[in-house]
Amino acid sequence: MPVTTTSTQLTLSNEAYVSEAFFRRECEKVFRCSWMLVGLVKEFAQPGHVHPLTVGGVPVLLVTGTDGVIRGFQNVCRHRGALLAFEPADGCRALTCPYHHWSYDLTGGLLTRPHYFGSDHHDTTPGPDAPGLIPVAVDSWHHWVFVNVDASAGPLSAHVRVAERLLEGYRVDELCLLDTLEFDVPANWKLALENFWEPNHSFSLHPQLMQAGTSANRSAVEYEENVIHGAIDYETDVDPDQLPGGDTPAQQGDPQKVNRSAWTMLFPNVCLTFFPGNLGVIEVQPLSADRTFERLHVYATEDVANEPELTQARQQIIDLWALTNQQDMDALRWTQMGRCCPGFDGGALSPYWDGAVSAFAELLTTRLNTND
Ligand code: FES
Ligand SMILES: [Fe+2]
Repeated sequence: MPVTTTSTQLTLSNEAYVSEAFFRRECEKVFRCSWMLVGLVKEFAQPGHVHPLTVGGVPVLLVTGTDGVIRGFQNVCRHRGALLAFEPADGCRALTCPYHHWSYDLTGGLLTRPHYFGSDHHDTTPGPDAPGLIPVAVDSWHHWVFVNVDASAGPLSAHVRVAERLLEGYRVDELCLLDTLEFDVPANWKLALENFWEPNHSFSLHPQLMQAGTSANRSAVEYEENVIHGAIDYETDVDPDQLPGGDTPAQQGDPQKVNRSAWTMLFPNVCLTFFPGNLGVIEVQPLSADRTFERLHVYATEDVANEPELTQARQQIIDLWALTNQQDMDALRWTQMGRCCPGFDGGALSPYWDGAVSAFAELLTTRLNTND
């Protein structure tokens, strides 16, 4: 049966936020056939690194070959379907199944099958038709690694086309990672996104973000294809110490963006926020209808990351991000609990701030109804 938005306001029903059946449908129709952010290029840089993770409920294995290429496979042995790897590991030269010790090379090809033809009759030269590991699509964009469980998916470059345009003028590739913060989110993944792109709550939840610009400077949220984005322009004569992250060197090459904070949500699980001196990237990992895990990767310029005299500025940036995201955890808990009230009909939306809620509902609903 097709999923529908509520008729007048284009919001999703409560079921979309609390129902495990609805979440399973999202796994099938969204997370297993979308480009999902799963980590940082630097986390998978070492040849021989093997990294199990779960994408939309599917066990996946990322394997860095001796050639440095990151390949992805469904984390399952072709013999009797055992999970191949449970923990990240380094220095691997092959993948050996714990059950009957079939082994695979780092490109997924089958190497050996012990006792395959009977006791002590091993298959040490499986032919080209022997079953290798099942591939998933893997690619990277700037510092970040994406997986699409659907190996026949279109290219990542097409998926990030609009987001890439919004990043023009930023020197993203020159930024250095300061820290990665982790959050157990007591809420549905969609509430995390809806909170991320909605700047109207800064005056009530994030007073530290209001010092350099009032609500009057905040633009309404915009949306385009698979991206929802917005920005705030600070006063040009603002004291740099009042800018989020303090008076740290600007990360932008484009002088017009030096006094701007801009945020971009790339559907379905990437949230980027550019402050004048730093970048925060939230990797949203949906776990169940009411649980989400977030990793927040904080970047700044090479100077800030490495200069000993900027240690304090570095810590200021990390503390700002930790505080702001912790404040958001409260809002996420409130809105998750609110979705358990049967009388709530999806919301009485602000015509100025909340247009993206409807756009997101439409985007998700279209995906969920595909091929029904
Ligand atoms: S299930 Fe992997 S070797 Fe048997
Ligand atoms: Fe917030």
